[in-house]
Amino acid sequence: MSAGDLLRAERDSGSPNGDLINSYIAEGKIVPIEITCNLIKKAMERAGWDKRTYLIDGFPRSDDNCRGWNEVMGDKTELAGVVYFEADEATMTDRILARAATSGRVDDNIETLKKRFAQFNKEQLPIIMKFTQEGKVIKINACQT
Ligand code: C5P
Ligand code: MG
Repeated sequence: MSAGDLLRAERDSGSPNGDLINSYIAEGKIVPIEITCNLIKKAMERAGWDKRTYLIDGFPRSDDNCRGWNEVMGDKTELAGVVYFEADEATMTDRILARAATSGRVDDNIETLKKRFAQFNKEQLPIIMKFTQEGKVIKINACQT
């Protein structure tokens, strides 16, 4: 499951949180974890809770994500590992601006992209470093075609 997809689906569902979610996405900011954690938990329950392994795309993205997840899900789940697809900003910019032609995403534009890169460097990289020190990260070179 994808955290971003779950947030976009919640926004488009007519949820009372829709405007709030959209404003965070448009600004490249991380949506408060109470919202995201609840969506992931519900998606896990829908998929079937027992004896499952889940792959979650785009999570955790911030300290707030880690804290809120551990509070609610810490004793219900076990983190097997983290897959980190690494690519340079030029490659990602090319890909995302190409995707913008068909994605319809409010954040696939150069202004939001700069904010998303800044968010990544400030909040995401330290988390990847922490998980790396714990031996939990599999890093993949995502620059190739
Ligand atoms: O992963 P994706 O590119 O779909 O994420 C798009 C946006 O969704 C992020 O920039 C952020 O605004 C929001 N998001 C979030 N928390 C997550 C994942 C995505 O707030 N864990
Ligand atoms: Mg995604």
